[in-house]
Amino acid sequence: MKLFLKIWRQSNGDSQGSFQNYEIEDITPDMSFLEMMDVLNEKLIIEEIDPIAFDHDCREGICGSCSMFINGRAHGPDTGITTCQLHMRKFKDGDSIVIEPFRANSFPVIKDLVVDRTSFDRIQHSGGYISINTSGNTQDANTIPIRKEDADNAFDAATCIGCGACVATCKNASAMLFVSAKVSQFSYLPQGQVEAKERVLNMVKQMDEEGFGNCTNTGACEVECPKGISITNIARMNNEYLKAKL
Ligand code: FES
Repeated sequence: MKLFLKIWRQSNGDSQGSFQNYEIEDITPDMSFLEMMDVLNEKLIIEEIDPIAFDHDCREGICGSCSMFINGRAHGPDTGITTCQLHMRKFKDGDSIVIEPFRANSFPVIKDLVVDRTSFDRIQHSGGYISINTSGNTQDANTIPIRKEDADNAFDAATCIGCGACVATCKNASAMLFVSAKVSQFSYLPQGQVEAKERVLNMVKQMDEEGFGNCTNTGACEVECPKGISITNIARMNNEYLKAKL
């Protein structure tokens, strides 16, 4: 396949970026999108052009670092996958592909397609954990009676990989889907009850301080989430927040 790529280039957070055009050939349908980017970067290095910076780590849909906007969609034209799981068979010979970083004020560009998502880390640090002192052996988790439905819901919420697609897709750059998944993950389980109040209050406070927008229930985040995190988690977080406030 021959492809025409239009890629956002920006040398650092202070400089003004712009789109640059690249042509690439000999791309096979079985290559992943990131392998295609690797091929392009090898070509650029040979031509003594600065390679395109992009984030990746696991390349298995686990770490959530391969965030980019492809043809106007977070993680590209497929659903339920991250960019590293996207294959070139989704494109045709001669296609033009526009590749941009995730855009949100709370995700400033570091370089090219790499954005700073440490705002998510700070939200997580503000309450997305359980800190209970145990004495003696920790109780076997399987001996704690938890309804199957609650266990499933907690697990579903815990599959959020924090990629930021929800923020990049939302017209308000809201982080409610991410934060609500992290709150719900604990709120369904007895282990999460002890710190439930502080958790939701602190995480929402940190989310607001980071400058994320408000949720207006458009549901775009749920559609583009590679892990299918449900917006019912947002309703659950709002409920938890109101209870904590009262
Ligand atoms: S590189 Fe880890 S999810 Fe894509």
